[in-house]
Amino acid sequence: MSLVKSKQRVADHGEVFTPAWMVDAMLDLVKDESERIDARFLEPACGSGNFIVRILQRKLAAVEIKYGKSDFERRHYALLALMCIYGIELLPDNIVECRTNMLEILAGYLNLDEGDDLYRAASHVLSLNLVHGDALTMLEQDKKPITFAEWGYLGKGKFQRRDFRLDVLTGSSAFSAEGSLFASLGKHEIFTPAKTWPPMTLSELANQEGKQT
Ligand SMILES: C[S@@+](CC[C@H](N)C(=O)[O-])C[C@H]1O[C@@H](n2cnc3c(N)ncnc32)[C@H](O)[C@@H]1O
Repeated sequence: MSLVKSKQRVADHGEVFTPAWMVDAMLDLVKDESERIDARFLEPACGSGNFIVRILQRKLAAVEIKYGKSDFERRHYALLALMCIYGIELLPDNIVECRTNMLEILAGYLNLDEGDDLYRAASHVLSLNLVHGDALTMLEQDKKPITFAEWGYLGKGKFQRRDFRLDVLTGSSAFSAEGSLFASLGKHEIFTPAKTWPPMTLSELANQEGKQT
């Protein structure tokens, strides 16, 4: 695979993709986390997904080992693995490629076709987790503040979603720095979700496909 699309894009956006051997070497530095199904990763300049695709593959290998014997658990934990991966990308073609690449990996692992609820739920999750926007201004393409969905699996087929603004989440690390005026604030006072959703099943998530909420 070429690591550069054009000289102009390198000059304009620093677009040079990371080779697979280097991605793996870097992920090996956080091996345990990269193989933990519910460890959360954010790639703020995700390109077409060289890092996050590999993270997804590592997580899915963990799903297979832990839940490979039960189709129900395997499907739900595979979706949870996807739900825990986030990206931001400035260029429209890259973000589309990135979502496609991630969906292909999940669909290949679970042998899904496009009509499967899980395929549609995953497509919805990817439209939220992989943001077309600017990681520096923390604004989406349409200038709304970037907001990420925090997903959790409650068991028995139900997923939980709470939305957080990225600028609030990143600002909160400065608040809690030692010596800061706000250092004594509890995390609960800082990590207030912008929205909390009722628990949702796979098919409820699938029905959200195409809705940008
Ligand atoms: C060096 S490439 C790396 C891509 C990918 N992480 C990889 O390692 O293959 C940097 C990527 O960041 C994107 N980018 C540049 N400025 C950005 C910004 N302010 N916010 C989000 N993405 C940005 C570029 O379009 C490009 O796809």
